[in-house]
Amino acid sequence: MKDSYSKFSSRFLGETGTKLLMDDLGEVSTNPRYINLGGGNPALIPEMTRLFRESILELVDSGEFDKLISTYESPQGNDLFIRSVQEFLADTLGWDVNESNIVVTNGSQSSFFTLFNLFAGLCVDGVNRSILLPMTPEYISYGDLLAGEDSLVCHLPTINDIDDTFFKYSINFEDLRISSEIGAMCVSRPSNPSGNVITDCEMSKLIELAENHEIPLIIDSAYGQPFPEILFKDVSLPFSKGAIYCFSLSKLGLAGLRTGIVVAEKPIIDAIKSINAVTSLSVNAVGSLLTLKLITSRTITTLSRDVVKPFYQAHLAATLELCGQYFRDLDVRIHRPDGAFFLWLWIPDLPITSGELYQRIKARGVLVIPGNYFFPGVSDSWEHKNQCLRLSYAQDVESIERGLKIISQEIRAVLRR
Ligand SMILES: Cc1ncc(COP(=O)(O)O)c(C=O)c1O
Repeated sequence: MKDSYSKFSSRFLGETGTKLLMDDLGEVSTNPRYINLGGGNPALIPEMTRLFRESILELVDSGEFDKLISTYESPQGNDLFIRSVQEFLADTLGWDVNESNIVVTNGSQSSFFTLFNLFAGLCVDGVNRSILLPMTPEYISYGDLLAGEDSLVCHLPTINDIDDTFFKYSINFEDLRISSEIGAMCVSRPSNPSGNVITDCEMSKLIELAENHEIPLIIDSAYGQPFPEILFKDVSLPFSKGAIYCFSLSKLGLAGLRTGIVVAEKPIIDAIKSINAVTSLSVNAVGSLLTLKLITSRTITTLSRDVVKPFYQAHLAATLELCGQYFRDLDVRIHRPDGAFFLWLWIPDLPITSGELYQRIKARGVLVIPGNYFFPGVSDSWEHKNQCLRLSYAQDVESIERGLKIISQEIRAVLRR
């Protein structure tokens, strides 16, 4: 990195976990020899792909397509889409929101970049604020998105044993202190990487804490409600006036169309709209128009529940069975997978770091993500941080099996040497 580059840019130019993940995804596309259990690509689900193709053709046939590709939309997003999302939220979740509470972004990654840097860093009142993650491990990019150094405060989870194989993280509320220097809290539900779904009780407590301290709780629902609902346990998504809800079309199978949706109080929506205008002029409307009818007709809910969720549930069942087979003689613990499409492995006796294990596995042609990146700001002295791996089970089961076989061989080799 050149010394003449700005301090601002230097935050994004180092060895970030996000870059590692995206570079690996790039390598997969040029080198198909890799088995990709790494990045967060959604699966190509045939029924979904067919529907999206039909929607594109409808846009072309109706002439909408020409307008779509040649027009700058409002920085708030396409107005028909926003109205449709507002009616959908009112109708399906009973939320009391209007159109001024909704903004579209170029993917929820972009929503988080905007929101994190809106609420953290040196603020206009002179206070240096941070984003608080009530529980790590958390989404890999949360640690990478902040322009200010040291603008993230992270908490360790409580680790609960379920049985000999499964464990579950929960939020350690005892240690959760919210000072006046916290600008917002953020939580992914379901969680990427662990597949954890914080309970309704944990969610209510977070909402209460946020309301009491008058800070926003940012709820990252990229895999959750109201779509694509890759959730394997029943939980509710309560409405809180001060919360910020981040949705995405990506995990329905539209990751390439870069469409995020933020629902929040009007001043926050106005701020995001202003930042959209300055940084992008306008937002990409392809995803919005492609899914407009699905949202208006509520088909998006039935597709989420009857197509997307069962697809990943079947992959999960097959992957767990394979884990039983390949890890039978190994002390490999699995976080109980309650949602999203990742398996989070914990190898308590791992004699090398998860980064070194990742390199060994990659050298054998399998991509995973080393767990340490999901614990931003957590000291290396906490051993658990370096004992975990994240695997995606979005791939076909045959690739998952080939990948798990190699992963188990590498774990066995390092445990027994
Ligand atoms: C938890 C979580 N949040 C946000 C994102 C960003 O998604 P997108 O920008 O595609 O909407 C991802 C992507 O994998 C994610 O896993």
